[in-house]
Amino acid sequence: MTIPKDKLPRKNNLYFPTTDFKKKAWLKNTNIYKEAKKNPIRFWGKAAKELFWSRKWEKTFSHNPPYFHWFSGGKINITENALDRNLKERKNKVALIWEPEPFEEKERIFTYYQLFREVNRFANALKKLGVKKGDRVGIYLPMIPEIIISMLACARIGAIHAVVFSAFSSQALKVRLQDTQAKVLITADGYFRRGKVINLKQNADAALMGEPRHGREGIKETKVEKIIVVKRADNEVAWQENRDYWWNDLVKNEKNWCKPVEMESEDIQFILYTSGSTGKPKGIVHVCGGYTVQAYLTTKWIFDLKEDDIFWSTADIGWITGHTYSCYGPLLNGATFLIFEGSPDWPTPDRWCQIIEKYGVTIFYTAPTAIRMFAKQLGKIEKKFKFDTLRIIASVGEPIDESAWQWYFQEVGKEKCPLLDTWWQTETGGILITSLPGIGPFKAVFAGLPFPALKVDILDDTKRSLSAGRQGNLVILPPFAPGMLRGIYKNQEKYVETYWSQYGNKIYFTSDGAFKDKKGLIRIVGRVDDVIKVAGHRISTGELENAISRDKKVSECAVVGIPDEIKGEVPLTFVVLATGLKAGEEMKKEIIEDVRREIGPIALPKKVYFVKDLPKTRSAKIMRRILKRLWTKEELGDLSTLANPESVEDIKKIIQT
Ligand code: PRX
Repeated sequence: MTIPKDKLPRKNNLYFPTTDFKKKAWLKNTNIYKEAKKNPIRFWGKAAKELFWSRKWEKTFSHNPPYFHWFSGGKINITENALDRNLKERKNKVALIWEPEPFEEKERIFTYYQLFREVNRFANALKKLGVKKGDRVGIYLPMIPEIIISMLACARIGAIHAVVFSAFSSQALKVRLQDTQAKVLITADGYFRRGKVINLKQNADAALMGEPRHGREGIKETKVEKIIVVKRADNEVAWQENRDYWWNDLVKNEKNWCKPVEMESEDIQFILYTSGSTGKPKGIVHVCGGYTVQAYLTTKWIFDLKEDDIFWSTADIGWITGHTYSCYGPLLNGATFLIFEGSPDWPTPDRWCQIIEKYGVTIFYTAPTAIRMFAKQLGKIEKKFKFDTLRIIASVGEPIDESAWQWYFQEVGKEKCPLLDTWWQTETGGILITSLPGIGPFKAVFAGLPFPALKVDILDDTKRSLSAGRQGNLVILPPFAPGMLRGIYKNQEKYVETYWSQYGNKIYFTSDGAFKDKKGLIRIVGRVDDVIKVAGHRISTGELENAISRDKKVSECAVVGIPDEIKGEVPLTFVVLATGLKAGEEMKKEIIEDVRREIGPIALPKKVYFVKDLPKTRSAKIMRRILKRLWTKEELGDLSTLANPESVEDIKKIIQT
């Protein structure tokens, strides 16, 4: 085990890996960038050759803008690479460690063989329930090993999984199940969260059946015919015979190996929903060949994974970080990784520190919100936790501010660990901008350089490439990266409009603002659309507005994201009530309940303001920019385009009081 002993050398405001770290790293010098740049397509082809394909691809990259394909003609199954391939040399190596929330409960540990066996058993069970290649399967599970087994079992038989974050409400689950038309849903009876049992099955049931109305029973809202339920919390659940099945009953007699289905490179691997600028979530489509290659290579190089590493990425599997770095990426590299059921700060703020020490975690990957919360709760932890097994620390999901970066680097990394700020999106499938640990440099609040072979640019609105220091829109240029999205499920129009219309159909628009320094290191500033990042969770203000406007008592509403010391951003809500209704505490509670019911507790507004009118242009467009500035007390800018400038003064007074 490479335990770092020395502090990272520093030159000006840049840090570099130590000589010792460099010596053992997969990548040690910048030649890799030059080599990859010469021929990006060949670069990815070379990486793909490190995996097992049941048929080799014919064409590495093809481009029919705005569509592109990688490894066409090839056949691959991600589980054959993630599981079977590791049985030869790593049969008894630990693949997965699961830490439950309750202290008194024992962890569960799976070797590669055990995980392989469980996946095969559950894949057989799915087949017996009639799940076939191309079918969509909804997964609504907490952070328990069965979420990983479910995803892998789907992938084994060529079914398409659509994981829905377990903290999403039943309404949010319903919308996603309707879009995928999944016939099977995998869930759990409940799970532990901050000492309480959350009844997940109840949510799942509610998603499937509409609200009873006028004395009649609710009607079936989705195409789900079977629910598979993991017994986790032993709480009482409602049960429907011939629809609901206990996981254990389905797998108990399964002993056989399940042959992996050969998948075409461009077959769908999975769908994962994310928020865009409109109210409706988008089903981002990832495909088998390219995603596998990118998940494999980015995990290996960015986290410098070695045989004896213990990798802990704290993100929930319901998000893309969980898919790529808490499931597929580590397994494709034969690594040992950890997942945790609970909150990192419960029951004590140092629970996450204890987990790092308990298992000797070597690579720790988390989000700026968590880092800010840890810093606030724990302050100086220099002496209490030595973290002497850690060798790489990393951050993802939202811009990291200077003080969080410094705290993470000093208190957790003890100035000995490379700190990687990794930029990517649900759409990109894997990390695309970061400094590499054996090369550096690590510069506070800068993500770093594009991954080798990746071409990016920062453009102004007229498509001009901007020089160092100037802020513009981050874009990705051909040949993109193999793991990037291939579409939005059943909505190609939206795909074209969202990513390929701003700068034409050959330039991928990320919706992020960024600038670079003189060395080309990239600083991500934040979204330029109506997406906000609440504690790293991607939420669209449009989705929130829809949730609130559905309330008949609401005539109109606007939601904006405002800065928050811990969560990065939080939603602020301005509501115009229907005529005759009175604002008050009760109404506020109702609005908050609307959001909890339609989306979930992660998106609750920080404040609800009842206003008479919202500032609008003459064409009736709500000026959210003004609402945000009223809160942040910034210069309001030109108000002459407003149809109702008097609304601004009113709102200002309401905010002040
Ligand atoms: O705005 C960027 C921000 O998160 C967005 C993508 O969110 P999501 O699809 O949920 O995926 C998050 C995990 C990959 C981006 O458009 N973002 C992500 N990483 C960073 C970031 N912003 C700043 N710095 C980052 N390292």
